[in-house]
Amino acid sequence: MKVAVLGAAGGIGQALALLLKTQLPSGSELSLYDIAPVTPGVAVDLSHIPGEVTVKGYSGEDATPALNGADVVLISAGVARKPGMDRSDLFNVNAGIVRNLIEQVAKACPKACIGIITNPVNTTVAIAAEVLKKAGVYDKRKLFGVTTLDIIRANTFVAALKGKPSSEIEVPVIGGHSGVTILPLLSQISGVSFSDQEAASLTKRIQNAGTEVVEAKAGGGSATLSMGQAAARFGLSLVRAMNGEQGVVECAYVEGDGQHARFFSQPLLLGKEGIVEYKPIGTLSSFEQQALEGMLDTLKQDIALGEEFVGK
Ligand code: NAI
Repeated sequence: MKVAVLGAAGGIGQALALLLKTQLPSGSELSLYDIAPVTPGVAVDLSHIPGEVTVKGYSGEDATPALNGADVVLISAGVARKPGMDRSDLFNVNAGIVRNLIEQVAKACPKACIGIITNPVNTTVAIAAEVLKKAGVYDKRKLFGVTTLDIIRANTFVAALKGKPSSEIEVPVIGGHSGVTILPLLSQISGVSFSDQEAASLTKRIQNAGTEVVEAKAGGGSATLSMGQAAARFGLSLVRAMNGEQGVVECAYVEGDGQHARFFSQPLLLGKEGIVEYKPIGTLSSFEQQALEGMLDTLKQDIALGEEFVGK
């Protein structure tokens, strides 16, 4: 299995690369690419960690050498938020970066499963889909917006609030990946229950958790270490499923049946070719149902922005 990380010299990229170097199955190849000239050095640094995962690093304008033969491509290239910025403020810079990198993916490894981390995810995934479609290689089972950070945050916050081990908590998070479009389904967690007040304030905290980090880092960027962990969880799940493990389920932002919006995050059964089954979102509480209806205009606008950027 060859896994490529694009944006590998950044805060997320380096944390993700470290986790993949130590946790990918033996015999895997880890391929690191970033425009930053330090990238081959990041690969040399990682290569001194014992283990049967080989690491190579590439920099410059051309991502092709890093992408050739890749089975999984994880993209965290782009700029991150500073205090006072919304994820949509990143669109102007990151839309072009994602378009450029996906054009290269379409040529070098058109059959790879792709995970988009670069924000605004609600929009960058739509950009990626349109670029792949234009190149004639779009397979909706293989394109994912990585929303795993919302899930691990929800797991952590619920476990702390209810005094449970976080390993026992798994919160499905549906919708998109910004503000009101992030919808944790707290009513579906087995073994815990919430008052209306608790559900409302916890939902808000999960939706604003990214901003908590941006403000605490005071101009130094957004979540990198927790995002590295989240992207590693998602990437490793994908690799396990692609290697034939059964029953691997993760939530991610994908093109499904379009019932709520063209792209929507929901639980997915993963397999050798990406998505095997779109799992139902299940029964929602009335609070969650209202939140779902309330997010759809925003989500659809975010998606349209991406579609228009590439030109349908
Ligand atoms: P960073 O600034 O530390 O790293 C970004 C890296 O991308 C840099 O090393 C830069 O050289 C590289 N880069 C820029 N243009 C490139 C190009 N054309 N090709 C290759 N590499 C390029 O930023 P950080 O903190 O790693 O965040 C990266 C992205 O991830 C941001 O857009 C951020 O908003 C997003 N993010 C997504 C989350 C999610 O839950 N999906 C959570 C947190 C951040």
